[in-house]
Amino acid sequence: MIKIKKGIPLYDQCDENGYWGKVFGSSYIPETLFQPLEDLSNAFEKLRKNKKFLKERDEMYAKFIGRPTPFLKLNNLSKHLGGAQIYAKHEAMANSQSHKLNNALLHCLIAKYTNKKVVVGDTGAGMAGSGLAMAAAATGLKAIIFQGEKDYLRQAPNSMRMRLLGAEINVVKSGSRQLVDAVSESIRYFVANCDKVHLAVGSSVGPSIYTRICAYAQSVISKELKKQIQEEFGRIPKNLSLVAAVGGGSSSLGFWMHMIDSGCKLIGCEAGGPKKFRNKHAAPLTYGSKLGILHGAAQYVMQDKNFQIADTESVSAGLDYPGCSAIHSWLKQQKRATYVAPSDEETLEAFKLCSRLEGIQASLEPSHALAHVCKIAPKMKKTDKIITLICGNAMKDFGIIAEKLGVKI
Ligand SMILES: Cc1ncc(COP(=O)(O)O)c(C=O)c1O
Repeated sequence: MIKIKKGIPLYDQCDENGYWGKVFGSSYIPETLFQPLEDLSNAFEKLRKNKKFLKERDEMYAKFIGRPTPFLKLNNLSKHLGGAQIYAKHEAMANSQSHKLNNALLHCLIAKYTNKKVVVGDTGAGMAGSGLAMAAAATGLKAIIFQGEKDYLRQAPNSMRMRLLGAEINVVKSGSRQLVDAVSESIRYFVANCDKVHLAVGSSVGPSIYTRICAYAQSVISKELKKQIQEEFGRIPKNLSLVAAVGGGSSSLGFWMHMIDSGCKLIGCEAGGPKKFRNKHAAPLTYGSKLGILHGAAQYVMQDKNFQIADTESVSAGLDYPGCSAIHSWLKQQKRATYVAPSDEETLEAFKLCSRLEGIQASLEPSHALAHVCKIAPKMKKTDKIITLICGNAMKDFGIIAEKLGVKI
């Protein structure tokens, strides 16, 4: 078992074959993709050291995305729950209303510097798709986005947003018509057009280079957070828990990346699905899924008795995914992070509470993290601290939330 090393970002801790801990990740790809992915890896390594590229990225992170995103105390929620002090890194304040733009913009810049004119990507909740459509518009590229039909309909505000940004949307009608199928179709499109297009995987999944690029892009969250914590407390506080939602795993990895050596507790919140059906969920890490291959990488993945990818269910389109990042699989195996799965109902209650007490309307993905915060905070001491990542705004979810909570206009 290969242990996590200190002082090296997790995205750089895979071996020469792209495996984290010798087991998770790598690139299970058709032969025709070997050279394009090798070229992408070489370009990524060079661009990470290219001053012009980094200057352009940093300027766009600041002026186009609006970074740094705020760090604030949730005073009313802390008082209401009566235990630990609760804080938030408010990533939903970014242009595009979620963290997904960090990754999308980095991909568009890589595409631009490698002379590609078209970016292709996947989306579930429409946040990765909107991010890609926005970043493509800002960098003068064409965006082609795949979205499952179920998600296209249930996240209609984002589907509309992508179209208005000028992206081409391909609605996927095969399989479960969700994120898993959208990722498969975008990869298929890339396999057929890899000489002309750049693939921008929307989360920290896929062949190892995509996991690395995404985790690298999102690590800006914890880079900022570490500074903001220092400013607020003068040091990293003792008994600090970092609680975040986990779908593919990009927001949580970005949130944890530069905090991993600080001794804080890392808690990932997957989708527990409807309370009354314990076997309907999207929580491969919480419920002990076996190792398998999905979207070109080895990871813990939900499988049926014939080892086929299992169906998932969640109120949140962004967490409704049967796999997880290879890096999360490693963190789980190493027991560095723990994983839980709040139910749909707990999530909706937490959304309501945060909305009414704090005036912050977190989308259904980070509301899973808020649900866990509501569960653990009252049992903790007043000197303990929790930081949660609010990585999305609920605008895209109001139809679902209103229906579930019985709110009518
Ligand atoms: C707002 C938001 N948060 C979280 C997620 C989950 O993805 P990840 O785990 O990659 O952050 C999504 C996915 O679409 C999302 O839209």
